[in-house]
Amino acid sequence: MTVMAPAPAGATAKRVFLRLIRPRPQADPYPDYRRLRELAPVHTIRLPGLGEAWVAAAHAEVALLLRHRDFGPLSHARLDLLSPGWRRQPLTSCIYRSMAFRSGLDHRVNRGLVAGDFSARTADGHRESLTLLAEELLDGLARGGRETDLMDSLALPFAALTIGRALGVPDGPALELSRLSRVASTVFEPMATAAQRAAQHRAGEGIVDLLGALLAERRRAPQDDLLTRLATARPADRDADGPTDRNADGVREALSTAVMLFGAGFDSPASAVGLGAGLLMEHPEQAALLRADPSLGRRAAEEILRYDSPVHLVTRTAHRDTRLAGVPIPRDGVVFGLLASGNRDPLAVFEPDRFDIARIPAPALSFGAGAHYCLGAPLARLQSEILFPLLLRRFPALRPAAPPVYRSPGTMLRGYEHLPVLLR
Ligand code: HEM
Repeated sequence: MTVMAPAPAGATAKRVFLRLIRPRPQADPYPDYRRLRELAPVHTIRLPGLGEAWVAAAHAEVALLLRHRDFGPLSHARLDLLSPGWRRQPLTSCIYRSMAFRSGLDHRVNRGLVAGDFSARTADGHRESLTLLAEELLDGLARGGRETDLMDSLALPFAALTIGRALGVPDGPALELSRLSRVASTVFEPMATAAQRAAQHRAGEGIVDLLGALLAERRRAPQDDLLTRLATARPADRDADGPTDRNADGVREALSTAVMLFGAGFDSPASAVGLGAGLLMEHPEQAALLRADPSLGRRAAEEILRYDSPVHLVTRTAHRDTRLAGVPIPRDGVVFGLLASGNRDPLAVFEPDRFDIARIPAPALSFGAGAHYCLGAPLARLQSEILFPLLLRRFPALRPAAPPVYRSPGTMLRGYEHLPVLLR
């Protein structure tokens, strides 16, 4: 009898990771995340086109990756190698110059310019207007047919109008930006197809043109909104590429921040609405709990984001030769942090595979951690806290009309493309 030797852990981890990042998203990637965590908290994997890379799968190591000063966002020099041409594309040129790709003092200064606009206190000031917006959209659903695609009729407009109004983008352009942003979101997806990349470039140009025009309008005719403050702010003295013409720097900084804020502030909240509605339909007993006691809204929001987060993966590089969980990582090494895997790690969360909206919030990584912790987390939490109890009360018979369609590739950004439901 021949006994098959077990595959070495590295080979198995690579196979599992490649399955996780393949362009066709899995309905349930969580068994693969568990497999990776069980093999090791951090893996060294040789990837096609990238060479050696590292994958952090356990909660503690993902959190450390995000918090430790040895790691940070991909530098412009690294991006030149991994994403040549990014400086010529209007969208990537904005995103990679935004706070999300800055480090240290440069990052703190840039983030500080808008931090007050997204504080917990500011977010709470939107409570009444967000409730009104949610009720208006639900009224619209009630007037429509029995069947709807909840992404198109609720998730996308709710997210677009929320971030649009927070920035001062009028509703019409906000809806247009949301349409373009869905197409452009593949900018974060390493496995996007050539056709998706081409569509992403076109949509990216549309986003930059539209926000650029709004900022120019605010410079000519200032209003009392965040867009105007961005448009008229003095440019920060520090710029990743060195100071040039201060006026041009200011225009570029404002555009880069506006593009980042709209994109980040729209995409994940829209996915959270879809994924949350999907989870509540899958778990009718949890939906009944929330319907009966809307004060569970805040905890439900946390649990939905922990159980199936809209952002599954983040990328960092090592600033120097270092180690993570004892695994050596050389300077400039690329490390993937699996947030969604960390959120289901039994070493950090009690019974992590149980969806329980009443649980005391677990230490989830849904909004990241450390210096780049999500700027819009208070606003995002409030959106979910308000919307789900209202949705369930208004449509107690809410149920799937057909299986949902996941976004593709969906490696980093998870969510639904379509969520067909029956309202009555
Ligand atoms: C459910 C909704 C949301 C989720 C799951 C989410 C998730 C995240 C995550 C995981 C990060 C960290 C990425 C990293 O470390 O590489 C992040 C960063 C960020 N998010 Fe969110 N986000 C959400 C909503 C929002 C909203 C409403 C805004 C509004 C402006 C926003 C703005 C940002 C910004 C600007 C950053 C970059 C922060 C920095 O680099 O300092 N997000 N988000």
